[in-house]
Amino acid sequence: AWVAVIGGGQNCEHDVSLASAAAVAGALEDAGYAVVRLTIDRDGSWRHGVDGCPVDLADAIHVLRTCDVAVPVLHGPRGEDGTLAALCELAGVAYVGSGVLAGALAMDKWATKLVAADLAIATAPGVLLTPSTAPGYRWTRPVVVKPVAAGSSQGVSLVASAPGLAPALDAAFALDRRVLVEDVVTGREIDVAVLGRPDGSRTVAPALEIVVDGLFDFATKYGGGADFRVPAELADAERKELEEAAVAMFDALGCAGVARVDFFLTADGPVLNEVNTMPGFTEQSQVPKMFASAGVSYAELLDVLVRDVLG
Ligand code: DAL
Ligand code: MG
Repeated sequence: AWVAVIGGGQNCEHDVSLASAAAVAGALEDAGYAVVRLTIDRDGSWRHGVDGCPVDLADAIHVLRTCDVAVPVLHGPRGEDGTLAALCELAGVAYVGSGVLAGALAMDKWATKLVAADLAIATAPGVLLTPSTAPGYRWTRPVVVKPVAAGSSQGVSLVASAPGLAPALDAAFALDRRVLVEDVVTGREIDVAVLGRPDGSRTVAPALEIVVDGLFDFATKYGGGADFRVPAELADAERKELEEAAVAMFDALGCAGVARVDFFLTADGPVLNEVNTMPGFTEQSQVPKMFASAGVSYAELLDVLVRDVLG
């Protein structure tokens, strides 16, 4: 079958996406698929093929339509947020992963909180600030300031004292018109991967713990400063609670394919951090490592994702 692997994108996770897309394309080729590469530049223009020949959007859609399935390996806004799914829907192209609404809800950390609250899944207590409400906000305790929609910790600051607030808000508002200010959650960082199959079955891979000194920020994420432990050491009750919460979020958001649901495991139980509908997908990324620890290889995981869409 012909598979279009789309990478790049118009946000700060561009390079992360290129790494994921290259790994995905390589593994699918090794598995016998005919792979066509499409790349979205930072300015939104498209390129076709490994040599990156510029194409306009109409040509890119034409390429997508010649393939049996598209694999959008984009992270962050204008990619993971449902926009690429929308393009595929309108073009009539089958694609791997979550649809428009699931991607949009999961990218929006505020919407994610509202869905979680309805499921009685804890998230960090927080407030939403807009340009009109932000000036009235008073710092009283350590908080995390983050854009509502962004990825890889861009624009996220830990504000430990009042003078840090203004620069933190500036950094977050530079990336989004809406900003979340949340209480600092102390707990172990545990990621849970959920694979949803078309027959409705859900597979949860062994949970992964991120062991890091301080914040799991952009530098530690991609500078090799974090240590993944998989399977994470968990009590049975903790594992069960994490897995149930992850599957409940996957289903409530309407996710498809694979999603990574990130938690803090606190003394009071799991606190949901976020849901990634297109998580990092190099072989060294969390999701492939979690499935590998369950005996599902990188190539097998991708093959399942593609075959489930091909039907
Ligand atoms: N947003 C990054 C790519 C991740 O979730 O892995
Ligand atoms: Mg993310």
